[in-house]
Amino acid sequence: MKRLTFDDIPALARIEEECFIEGWTADDYAVQFEVEGTSGFGIEDAGQLVAALVYTPGEGSLYVVSLGVLPTHQRQGLATKLMTQVINLGQPVTLHVRVGNRRARALYRGLGFVDVRTEPGFYGEDGEDAILMLRP
Ligand SMILES: CC(C)(COP(=O)(O)OP(=O)(O)OC[C@H]1O[C@@H](n2cnc3c(N)ncnc32)[C@H](O)[C@@H]1OP(=O)(O)O)[C@@H](O)C(=O)NCCC(=O)NCCS
Repeated sequence: MKRLTFDDIPALARIEEECFIEGWTADDYAVQFEVEGTSGFGIEDAGQLVAALVYTPGEGSLYVVSLGVLPTHQRQGLATKLMTQVINLGQPVTLHVRVGNRRARALYRGLGFVDVRTEPGFYGEDGEDAILMLRP
């Protein structure tokens, strides 16, 4: 487990591409890392970043900006490890997840997150709804 820094941005963008998630680019991450308090955790295998989580301080909680595990490394508990690390920082944790992302929703439920509300059309690219989840 390592702390992510600005230098990890290219590797973060690569994970993002392979996971087909929000499609954050290296530029998006560079902007995000300028926000005070933004940080993250990563897991490497053979010197390559294979799983990563980025979070930023929200109002009374830490907000998970992105979470991705390379397809070759999924279902081995890596996302659970990363989320546990953030939870252990001792603050409530919030995040948005696509309504249709059953895998991620199962992961978060298993970690004690609850649904707060649905946010219609949250994902501008395709208009999918988000669920705001909270781990108190
Ligand atoms: C969602 C994601 C982060 C899970 O990462 P992971 O390292 O495979 O997750 P874990 O191995 O820690 O799994 C923990 C739990 O999540 C759930 N889960 C994970 N993958 C699942 C799958 N393919 N099918 C069903 N449940 C799944 C299960 O409850 C699992 O517990 P179990 O293995 O004891 O059944 C990963 O699939 C991913 O990167 N997906 C693409 C990007 C994404 O959706 N990110 C989240 C955006 S909000």
